Amino acid sequence: MMHKKTDRNLIFLTKFRRLTPALPTRKIETETCDMSQSLTFHQDNNILKNIIIKVYYCLYFFGKIVLYTNNFIWKENFMQLLTIENINKRIKKQKILKDISFTLKQGEVVGLVGANGAGKTTLMKVILGLSNYQSGSLKLHGPMNNNHIGALIENPGVYPFLTGYENMNLINEDKEKENMEQIIKNLEMSQFIHKKAKAYSLGMKQKLGIALSLLNQPQLVILDEPMNGLDPKAVRNVRETILSLKAQGVSFLISSHMLGELVKVTDSILIIDNGAIVKETTMEELNNSNESDLENVLLNIIDHKEEKK
Ligand SMILES: Nc1ncnc2c1ncn2[C@@H]1O[C@H](COP(=O)(O)OP(=O)(O)OP(=O)(O)O)[C@@H](O)[C@H]1O
Ligand SMILES: [Mg+2]
Repeated sequence: MMHKKTDRNLIFLTKFRRLTPALPTRKIETETCDMSQSLTFHQDNNILKNIIIKVYYCLYFFGKIVLYTNNFIWKENFMQLLTIENINKRIKKQKILKDISFTLKQGEVVGLVGANGAGKTTLMKVILGLSNYQSGSLKLHGPMNNNHIGALIENPGVYPFLTGYENMNLINEDKEKENMEQIIKNLEMSQFIHKKAKAYSLGMKQKLGIALSLLNQPQLVILDEPMNGLDPKAVRNVRETILSLKAQGVSFLISSHMLGELVKVTDSILIIDNGAIVKETTMEELNNSNESDLENVLLNIIDHKEEKK
């Protein structure tokens, strides 16, 4: 009986042992199953993450493209202050300006260079509305109008019986005198600004003329031979004033025979000959060209003109 009982127990044990190894296997099976599920879950998660990252990068690059395109369009079109197209002017039968076209952008300094009688002053007068023209178009862009243009054409128009300060005060529209005082300081006019203008020397008058053109925060300043009669220190003060205003976004159109001085402030130069723009050159082009000396370029043009005669 005992044997039988032991046998039964043995049989039970054997059965149990047979069963037990199966348990971990099952467990492993279930674990493997769980892992594969979580793996698929992780894979799904990764795909989703990748899609989100890709969409994010697409949006980022799309945004950048839109931004660059906008900047480009803005720079090309909206930064333009003045567009001149095919301006023609005649006085009696003489053609003074012939198909003049160019643009002036915000913060740009353009030099106007040409021989005596080439048409520089006339072109400036046309832009300012001081002289008429027969054909072509002249557009001031954006919020710009003639009130935003400062100018010094040929000789400065000042009231001789007023002091320089009073002359400036007449034109100054700012209630605050801060800007006016700053111009006087920048151009070093303090010593004579309270003297009557009739007692001014040529250079003093010229400085006052430049100071008047810079009043009321102009967006565009047109200066015809601004360096005329100025001593070297005054020339440097004018140059520094122009460069500082340019950095603030003010544009300039400057005519000058002092080519060496002009190239220090300009971004590009228009060479006008006999009423027509014969060459438009950027400072980069000039610096890279063999004709590094602008004077030679200009003299060549004048010489060819003499030869043709
Ligand atoms: N009021 C006028 N009547 C007739 N001709 C004129 C008049 N004003 C200018 N001109 C002519 O127009 C041409 C251009 O003159 P403008 O004064 O524009 O030359 P410019 O380039 O400024 O010369 P400069 O370097 O001597 O100042 C010249 O041939 C000049 O004789
Ligand atoms: Mg002139």
